Amino acid sequence: MSPEQDGLNAERIRELLGEPGVIGRDVQTFPELDSTNDAIHRLAAEGEKEGLAIFADRQLRGRGRRGARWESAPGRDLLFSVLLRPSFAAEHWARLTTLAAVAVCRALEKYLDDAAEIKWPNDVYLQKRRKVCGILLETRAGNRTTERYAALGIGVNVNGEKDDFPEALRQSAISLRMGRRDGAVVERERVAARLLDELDRTYRAGEAGWPELRVEAEARSVFQGKGVRLQGEGALHEGVFAGLGDCGELILEVEGGARRVFGGAEEVQRME
Ligand code: BTN
Repeated sequence: MSPEQDGLNAERIRELLGEPGVIGRDVQTFPELDSTNDAIHRLAAEGEKEGLAIFADRQLRGRGRRGARWESAPGRDLLFSVLLRPSFAAEHWARLTTLAAVAVCRALEKYLDDAAEIKWPNDVYLQKRRKVCGILLETRAGNRTTERYAALGIGVNVNGEKDDFPEALRQSAISLRMGRRDGAVVERERVAARLLDELDRTYRAGEAGWPELRVEAEARSVFQGKGVRLQGEGALHEGVFAGLGDCGELILEVEGGARRVFGGAEEVQRME
């Protein structure tokens, strides 16, 4: 295997992490898992504490939003999930997707000359229209510890080249490396540590940090100042992006000035 395809090294990630916090208090890496989100579900059900981050070089059943598969060239990307047990009300847990998107943008920008942007609700884009990261938040809001947690799954395309992506995604996907002017391979452990640090900092800001986070997420939105088309179940909605709601929902201003709020189940596109 070429150097960029060596297995992820948990010890190296730990070494590169900043101040000890919550997210990343335990880091585990595996050559192969079904899905890192599934691994988190299993451990959460056994009572594992929050902050554990699980990485896999390869997933057999990686999944994305709305039942899509998440494909990745083995050993080139970062595929990981974090176990969270937020102390704030479960009705606000959806904010974690926005939180993660902002943290990923901040972390990736350390390796880029250009800004990373958010395609609501759960994608990070480079170069306006190319996806570098997808986020999958799965929550269980039961009463017992074992049934009350969030699995925050993140897939980042790190060192892949165009041919590593399935044909159908070659125009719409990008890796961190492809987004760099020098095209240089990036050490995955370094990116992993940076991601965990940014996630931790943002998470520890807690509910008090939400207003600022929301403003940043709005400013980073690829829809900022743009027309947006949302395809819901059987209905098409068009309007102008008018910001994010209290739990990260998309607010659309439709003709006549009325505002509609969308939770994230819709297919969404920017209108040119
Ligand atoms: C999406 O874009 O629809 C979200 C993709 C999320 C993929 C990541 S990879 C790590 C974690 N494990 C999974 O099975 N999915 C998430």
